[in-house]
Amino acid sequence: MLIKLYHKIRRNIREDGLIVDSSPFLVNAMIRHIDFDRPIRVLEIGSGRGAFTSQLLQRLDRQSHLDICEIKHEYNPYIESLIQQHPDKSVRLHNCCVTTLLSQADHYDFVLSSLPLKNFEDSDSENAFLNQIIKGVQHSLVDNGTYLQYQYFRSNQKDIERVFGKAMDEVSFIPFNILPAFVYQIRKQAAALQSSVAMPVNTSHIA
Ligand SMILES: C[S@@+](CC[C@H](N)C(=O)[O-])C[C@H]1O[C@@H](n2cnc3c(N)ncnc32)[C@H](O)[C@@H]1O
Repeated sequence: MLIKLYHKIRRNIREDGLIVDSSPFLVNAMIRHIDFDRPIRVLEIGSGRGAFTSQLLQRLDRQSHLDICEIKHEYNPYIESLIQQHPDKSVRLHNCCVTTLLSQADHYDFVLSSLPLKNFEDSDSENAFLNQIIKGVQHSLVDNGTYLQYQYFRSNQKDIERVFGKAMDEVSFIPFNILPAFVYQIRKQAAALQSSVAMPVNTSHIA
């Protein structure tokens, strides 16, 4: 029993970058940046069992749209059950790598990501996949659109700031989570203000 639990925890950390679902404290710290008072387009990346999805579905109005992206099919029953509880909401679950959703420019008002960015680091390719994801998020946001991301060790804060061409708008620390986490909030600058490092995304080699 203990050995089974140990293997499950190891697999969760290796594959998903987490030990247990995000806590309500972390969920609220991310969600509070979203303006639910107007029709918005939201992309949630890496829904897992739906810690964030549940709150998003409760708060979004009927004119808003939510795209949920989760690469693993095993979480579908959790997400589909949440979607069924909100038949009046405009929402779609995409079972794919998120890069396929990031090619459309100026589309989302908010991108909320639980992606384990640190797991995407790869010195052999000079972090090609990591950079592709961050550039894709930036590309898919409307001007002034907001990227929300949590991380346990601020490992990729600088990578995000480099692509967005600016410092984080806010970084908050949430102690009540396993593990304690930092929440990044960064808004996309209008095109005219962007530095030359923010280049268009290339999704051509992703399946
Ligand atoms: C750290 S877990 C977050 C789960 C949940 N949102 C939470 O915070 O409790 C990260 C999730 O991202 C998913 N994921 C990893 N790489 C992905 C990719 N390239 N595209 C879409 N989802 C991905 C994993 O399958 C996993 O469910």
